[in-house]
Amino acid sequence: MKKLVFLTGAGMSAESGISTFRDSGGLWEKYPVEAVASIEGYNRNPELVQNFYNMRRTELKKVTPNEGHKLVACLEKDYDVTVITQNVDDLHERAGSHHIIHLHGELMKATSSRHPNDPNCIITLPEDNPIIHMGDKAKDGSQLRPFIVWFGESVPMIEPAAKEVEKADILVVIGTSLNVYPAAGLLNFTNSHCKIYLIDPQNVPYNPNLGILHIMKGASEGMKELCEILNPR
Ligand code: OAD
Repeated sequence: MKKLVFLTGAGMSAESGISTFRDSGGLWEKYPVEAVASIEGYNRNPELVQNFYNMRRTELKKVTPNEGHKLVACLEKDYDVTVITQNVDDLHERAGSHHIIHLHGELMKATSSRHPNDPNCIITLPEDNPIIHMGDKAKDGSQLRPFIVWFGESVPMIEPAAKEVEKADILVVIGTSLNVYPAAGLLNFTNSHCKIYLIDPQNVPYNPNLGILHIMKGASEGMKELCEILNPR
């Protein structure tokens, strides 16, 4: 089976109703990124940051995977598929994908504010009340915080992700502005025979030497076109 790796960003979930970050009207226009998505912001005002992620969790419960997520999962019938996502939502999981690497953490999880990457401290929040209160404690006794990789923190999943990209026969990049590193640098780990596709309705800056085929469509329509290319009838 050929190895098919997806690298997804906020545009993957846009058609499910989750705002992207940098498009006009995106999240970072409404909430300053340094206040709600940096370790300095959390240390300065943890309550504001907790409320922001509590709100995002409540919103996540109201949305469902779109056709694009479903087609990504469907390709597992014919390919050895790994999904590397910058998204913290669980829509790839809910669409049925089985091998998912979350580079920037997971919204439905919480962890220790002292050792955020200690697997013993990471818990899944209850579906019916996924709220973290100030005063809630992690296993190590520190304040419970969102399991999100903030700016200023290391990205421990980047190494396993790069290993997957190195082995890919096909890499499909969907809905990311490729602004954020180290995630954007993953494209440089492809081997010389890897075919790269990009699905995004906008132009995205990428290295022209990579020979990327740009499908200039949204995630759902773009995935339909990709399926026709990969599995022609
Ligand atoms: P961005 O908001 O930077 O980029 C979203 C991309 O999705 C853009 O290229 C859009 O053109 C594209 N897009 C919009 N609608 C789409 C659709 N319907 N289908 C497909 N693509 C669409 O989001 P990311 O690149 O994911 O990190 O941002 C990367 C990281 O920056 C995020 O993980 C987050 C953010 O700060 C953290 O919070 C740590």
